[in-house]
Amino acid sequence: MGVEIEFRRIGVVGAGTMGSGIAQMAAQAGFEVVMHDIEESFVQSGLGKIEKSLSKAVEKGKMSAEEKASVKSRIKGTLLLDDLAEVDVVIEAVIEDKKTKKDVLSSLDSVCRPSTILASNTSSIPIAELAAATKRPDRVIGMHFVNPVQVMKLVEIIRAIQTSKETNDAVVALAMKMGKTPVEVNDFPGFALNRILVPMINEAAYMLMEGVASAETIDQVMKLGANHPMGPLELGDLVGLDVCLSIMEVLYAEYGDSKYRPCPLLRRYVQAGRLGRKTGRGFHVYQ
Ligand code: 3HC
Repeated sequence: MGVEIEFRRIGVVGAGTMGSGIAQMAAQAGFEVVMHDIEESFVQSGLGKIEKSLSKAVEKGKMSAEEKASVKSRIKGTLLLDDLAEVDVVIEAVIEDKKTKKDVLSSLDSVCRPSTILASNTSSIPIAELAAATKRPDRVIGMHFVNPVQVMKLVEIIRAIQTSKETNDAVVALAMKMGKTPVEVNDFPGFALNRILVPMINEAAYMLMEGVASAETIDQVMKLGANHPMGPLELGDLVGLDVCLSIMEVLYAEYGDSKYRPCPLLRRYVQAGRLGRKTGRGFHVYQ
């Protein structure tokens, strides 16, 4: 079928940390990118993050000023979902909320050409359920990027029971073109990465709640004892504690297993608005 050869334009829905990182990597790979969000300030913030990241790359001599200008010229921000009508593939990276993601996919289904592939960057929601919210379930797939998108090599490719092989192959090729290593994983909640990583963060929150050790010590233990680049609580702050909590809630609801119960302290931090780096405070305090 060779769908990947025809990919020229990519839509990204959601201009947050993940969406803007995905838009940047797609533009760096030579695609024309339309990045959508629901408020102008969100679009501008996403474009600002991309500018900052590209400027850093130029400063380090990893990219020329001309390349930076060319990458930026390929990214268009928009508030209109209709601007995604002509793209070949859309990667949605909106908040980790099932209803919001289903609504977005259903709207994209109406707006985009029938041939357009709709990929979701969900961290844990079953792709089968998201695909069922559209009239093109064979063209819906999971494409799970990892934070920071510019650095991390992994993209989990999650094929729902409805997803066609053509869609799967096209998206595997797309991930490779974006400089990533696609890994195919079956459609179970949390897929592979977050099924391991987020319960670890949740367990670290339990340890903090029980007074086993301070946040700094818990992080230090995993850095020194397991060679992790960051401790689990620092990692939770990077990912966003609200995102960690929603992933734990999906795991708990989907598997019905008490080993996935969200830590009350994690919930309390989210209720208090201490969401991690993005709000300046989570398990740790940031300047
Ligand atoms: N954007 C672009 N580049 C970045 C970056 C960002 N946000 N953060 C770091 N980098 C680059 C730096 O510029 C540096 O590049 P260089 O080697 O060319 O100078 C390189 O990454 C290393 O960064 P630093 O020297 O500043 O710091 P570290 O060596 O500590 O690395 C890190 C930072 C890459 C974030 C590292 O700590 C790490 O790998 N942490 C773990 C990340 C991780 O586990 N992510 C998974 C999260 S789970 C997820 O996203 C799934 C979701 O569904 C929840």
